[in-house]
Amino acid sequence: MTPDDASSRAPIGIFDSGLGGLTVLQEIERQLPDEDTVYFGDSGRAPYGTKSHDTIVKFALQDMRFLLEHRIKALVIACNTASAHAFDEIRAEAGIPVLEVIGPGAMAAAQATRNGRIGIIGTQATVDSGVYLRAVETLTPLGVVIHQQACPLFVGLAEEGWWENDIARRVAVEYLAPLRKAGIDTLVLGCTHYPLLKKVISEAMGPSVALIDSATEVARATRSRLALAGLGEPPRVEGHTARHVFYTSDSAERFRQLGGAFLRKEIAEAHKVEIERF
Ligand code: DGL
Repeated sequence: MTPDDASSRAPIGIFDSGLGGLTVLQEIERQLPDEDTVYFGDSGRAPYGTKSHDTIVKFALQDMRFLLEHRIKALVIACNTASAHAFDEIRAEAGIPVLEVIGPGAMAAAQATRNGRIGIIGTQATVDSGVYLRAVETLTPLGVVIHQQACPLFVGLAEEGWWENDIARRVAVEYLAPLRKAGIDTLVLGCTHYPLLKKVISEAMGPSVALIDSATEVARATRSRLALAGLGEPPRVEGHTARHVFYTSDSAERFRQLGGAFLRKEIAEAHKVEIERF
């Protein structure tokens, strides 16, 4: 095996504050089926979205350092909050290609809107950073109106596995009422946990509002970035099936159960990590 083969066969590292990044992993698996992945979900320290900038940066760097120990060839920050607050710090230290989730989501929203009224929902930390607002504004003509709304309880509901129950439904209606009133036609799910609640969000907004989940775009961006860096899909080896390994800072069993329910397949390997060591 040449050194190049070795690097291109290395796994892609993906992290989030918990289960949310699985929405990105799922799309990476779909678009890049031969790639191995290592996923870290920091459920023990979630949510990130209510934390300060400094704490989010500290957590995100620890997540990255843990994944770098797995000799990953690229890192996907599958968390809007970490992308909004820690992208520069991560990029400066990683030494490998780093993908984030905000740019692709903003681009998809700019392309989707017909009436020029866009809604963005995310964690408090993402909304306060103003990163989405600026990203969408630079991609859309003057006159486009953007409404932001923080929906912190969605993360707890997603981590709890309460994806489609009555409580989730009522919380969605309450949070989304102002956006509905504003007449938006496009809603950016600016937190990777929110696609887990897609059904109740869609019901609360009504069928005419397009929901933007950046996972598809992020997976596409990952594919082209890998190709550009010469790290693209490894040559197929007879009998190779991609390996997906999962780590969490909370109970591995709980992660296996909830993660498996979301991915609709068994998570064979999940391990607990003492993330504060990194
Ligand atoms: N899933 C993350 C995001 O995309 C973080 C949610 C949280 O931990 O508050 O923002």
